[in-house]
Amino acid sequence: MLTAFTLYNGLVTDAYILGIESSCDETAAAVVRSGEELISNVVYSQFATHQPYGGVVPELASREHLRAIVPVVRKALDDAGRSYRTIDAIAVTKGPGLAGSLLVGLSYAKALAYAVEKPLIAVNHLEGHIHAVLLEERQKGNRDLQFPVLALVVSGGHTHLFLVEGKSGAWRYHDVGHTRDDAAGEAFDKVAKLLELGYPGGPAIDFLAKHGNAQAVKFPFAQIKHHDRNPQNRHSDDELRVDFSYSGIKTAVLRYVETHDMREDISRRRRALTELASPSREDYLAACDRATLDLVASFQHAMVNDLISKTLLAAREHEVATLLVTGGVAANSELRTSFEQRASEEGFAVYFPSRRLSTDNAAMIAAAAYPRFLAGEFAAPELSADAALRLR
Ligand code: KG4
Ligand code: ZN
Repeated sequence: MLTAFTLYNGLVTDAYILGIESSCDETAAAVVRSGEELISNVVYSQFATHQPYGGVVPELASREHLRAIVPVVRKALDDAGRSYRTIDAIAVTKGPGLAGSLLVGLSYAKALAYAVEKPLIAVNHLEGHIHAVLLEERQKGNRDLQFPVLALVVSGGHTHLFLVEGKSGAWRYHDVGHTRDDAAGEAFDKVAKLLELGYPGGPAIDFLAKHGNAQAVKFPFAQIKHHDRNPQNRHSDDELRVDFSYSGIKTAVLRYVETHDMREDISRRRRALTELASPSREDYLAACDRATLDLVASFQHAMVNDLISKTLLAAREHEVATLLVTGGVAANSELRTSFEQRASEEGFAVYFPSRRLSTDNAAMIAAAAYPRFLAGEFAAPELSADAALRLR
């Protein structure tokens, strides 16, 4: 049976929450009013630092967070016209993420909360991604989404399907599927690195795929549909899980490159692009031949198709009414268009965050903290980071 849930109804007084996020390679701070209005949003991205390595280097990420955290938080408060005194609480990401990176944001938030005598709220990064969607829907005036909800959180570190229950105000999350190896965003990043298409790989592939033939190369995926035998994990007696696996497609792309003699072309592209100071998307496009563009378009198409098919399968199985799609990969153009089309064909409402709130940000952390603020769920002084924190 479907029940409507209300996305805050104005019964409570306003609360201005300062959010701080540092779980991976973005140092971010934001001010959000009562989980429903984005007041300021500052994201300092470390792309330039990690670009030469084609992936996030944890030690460098921690160092960059240390450098950026103070100015980023100050700017978020300045942009919001607020001071440390005129915020109501501080929210910070507790995990999951890179331990060293998490510690920078968490230690700073703890010290700040202590110094300015404000309550501190610990937030799970994955719940944050889900609240990015809710924040923007409330801001648009959409306060009544339909339960049950299925959320696909798809990013560089995660590919998770959560069945969401909203009992008595507090939300509960039940993991009904996740990747068994690489996350979807990781596959985009690794394929882009292999083909020398720039970093981060997701946006690069998103742009280039528009210029290739998505039907040129077929990448089959296995159906990983099974009944959960572990009673501790099980939500109901006969529950179907739908898992993902994205390490195989990376190997398939590598094999395609080898068997189609594309190595020389990749080296040529690398040499051409290193001669340019800061190559643009168009420079990358000009350095790609037809075979590369077709391969990229086919890879993206296969990834998008697998993510959508498995999410819709789980949605049918769990008889959900609403789908939320969030996390960095939710910024992908083909994913958004195809998801909307296929979900509406099957009668599901689907919601995405805007592109700027799809990737890591602190507005989602401040928004997710609001129900905890109302419930008085504040962090103890001994709060510490948890790199493998689960969402329940
Ligand atoms: O949510 P996020 O900022 O950080 C994590 O929590 O992991 O997600 C970053 C990931 C990266 O793997 C990036 O390549 C991917 O999201 N991404 C995209 C797009 N924009 C970012 N993947 C596909 N298409 C995009 N447009
Ligand atoms: Zn994230």
